[in-house]
Amino acid sequence: MRKVQQYQFVLILLIFLILVFYSYEPDFEYSDTINELLGILAGEPINASFPITFYQSAYVDYRFDPPRLRIFTLNKCVKSSQFLLVDLHIDGNNSAPVRKNIYGEPLSVNCPSLYAPASSCVYNPYIFSIGLKTNANLKKVTIHLGSRKVELNVQKVYKKSTEGITVCLQPVYYFSHWQNIVLYIEAWRAQGATRFIVYFHSGTKETWKVLEYYRDLGMIEIKSWPRFPSLPADIADKYPKIDDSVYIISFFLSMNICILDIKTTIGTVADFDEVMVPTNGRLLDYATKEMTDTNVGALSFENQYVSFTPRIYTSNFSGVASPEFRVHIGPAKYVFNASVLSIAQVHWAGSFTDSSMRSKDADGALLHFRFDAEAKNVTASEKHFRFFPDDHSTHIKNMHDTAHKIFDGVIPKFSTKSYDTLQKCVNRIIPVEDKVCLSTSGICKAEMDEVEDWVYADSEPIFLIGT
Ligand SMILES: *[C@@H]1O[C@H](CO)[C@@H](O)[C@H](O)[C@H]1NC(C)=O
Ligand SMILES: *[C@@H]1O[C@H](CO)[C@@H](O)[C@H](O)[C@H]1NC(C)=O
Ligand SMILES: *[C@@H]1O[C@H](CO)[C@@H](O)[C@H](O)[C@H]1NC(C)=O
Ligand SMILES: *[C@@H]1O[C@H](CO)[C@@H](O)[C@H](O)[C@H]1NC(C)=O
Ligand SMILES: *[C@@H]1O[C@H](CO)[C@@H](O)[C@H](O)[C@H]1NC(C)=O
Repeated sequence: MRKVQQYQFVLILLIFLILVFYSYEPDFEYSDTINELLGILAGEPINASFPITFYQSAYVDYRFDPPRLRIFTLNKCVKSSQFLLVDLHIDGNNSAPVRKNIYGEPLSVNCPSLYAPASSCVYNPYIFSIGLKTNANLKKVTIHLGSRKVELNVQKVYKKSTEGITVCLQPVYYFSHWQNIVLYIEAWRAQGATRFIVYFHSGTKETWKVLEYYRDLGMIEIKSWPRFPSLPADIADKYPKIDDSVYIISFFLSMNICILDIKTTIGTVADFDEVMVPTNGRLLDYATKEMTDTNVGALSFENQYVSFTPRIYTSNFSGVASPEFRVHIGPAKYVFNASVLSIAQVHWAGSFTDSSMRSKDADGALLHFRFDAEAKNVTASEKHFRFFPDDHSTHIKNMHDTAHKIFDGVIPKFSTKSYDTLQKCVNRIIPVEDKVCLSTSGICKAEMDEVEDWVYADSEPIFLIGT
């Protein structure tokens, strides 16, 4: 008993002394220091037997003070004592790389996810991060996993000064409603969007044609979001394939990586059937006014379902002239100050680089033109919002002209077959703890390939498992 008490006393004294020591070194954050201490005392490095895959780039985020190194992964849930053993290769320093223990947290807050369809998924999106010295010019990161190692390049992230809105799209999986994209780009641009970043996994040929058209005009950047790699051969049979056990929660990764690639003052993450509009005026002006030099870091827009008569899938875009707004409770989406958003959740701003920042309810709406909005609720809403802040007829003509240009005057006939097939597949998957979760990408591929000749993303090595 006495021995244990003595040991505890020495331990507490040691922690105290080290904290005092580090408090004289202001570049270090206490949380990192405490984590490192726990690591030295009781931690275990993540090694080659652990199922994990890394996004190819590590980010040094200078929006934080001190700057933070941020590494994105997909992995089995980690214990708080587990860390990545990392070598930081710093430029202008002839000495050996600096070795650090880096701890992680799930991007979706909990691991396993509390979101029921994802709770049986083995792989969860994570961020591992640590504060850096302000003057350290990081060139490369090497992660040591015992018998394997992974090297990541380094990208730098700064506060934004170019006025505009950048719109991020979560990975596009088996997408067929190409009409949405034409309306989406037209409406977002009218609201002040200047750039679109689209993560692409798969879509119909028509979808791909539309994306290529806007890419060639320099409006959107298409980023490949291929299938996830297989685990290394020596552990592959112990765990499910990553592609089969990650569900849509892998979206958290693309979303949070995308926000770091934004170069404009304002950013947002919205699906191809979602446009955020203020009650009056243009979104860019409204959001700039509401957020500049305030502690408002994000503006939250209430969900408002919208339907068109005639439908944009079976007719042309003429129905957009008279949208019907429907009462339906759905989750909000938000626009944010791209200089301060730290972690993006799907429906709210997860955290800011500056803890004094807050979210605020916007005077406006998230116009959600889901293809099945008619089926959601027959009750018409009293509210009326505008897709375009200026003359609607000009935009409707633009959309008709654009569709004709893309398809050489022959507008393809729309079919719900591929969407229905995906729904049928998803409804059949029964999640089993630690084995299968609703992962449409891997599990539904064979079935989807039967109904369409899909365009898939190039299989670039975006995710690394190490060698
Ligand atoms: C790898 O980590 C696991 C879990 O922490 C541990 O049980 C195992 O002994 C480690 N293997 C090696 C080779 O260090
Ligand atoms: C250079 O490396 C040494 C040894 O690892 C480290 O103590 C020092 O802080 C590094 N210098 C810079 C500028 O990071
Ligand atoms: C974004 O936040 C920064 C604080 O880092 C502030 O100076 C700036 O005015 C904000 N910009 C907008 C558009 O909200
Ligand atoms: C759009 O479709 C409607 C009928 O659905 C038709 O009356 C109208 O002429 C069409 N407009 C264009 C520009 O093709
Ligand atoms: C439809 O809208 C009404 C009126 O607001 C509401 O009371 C009802 O709960 C809604 N039904 C569904 C299924 O969303």
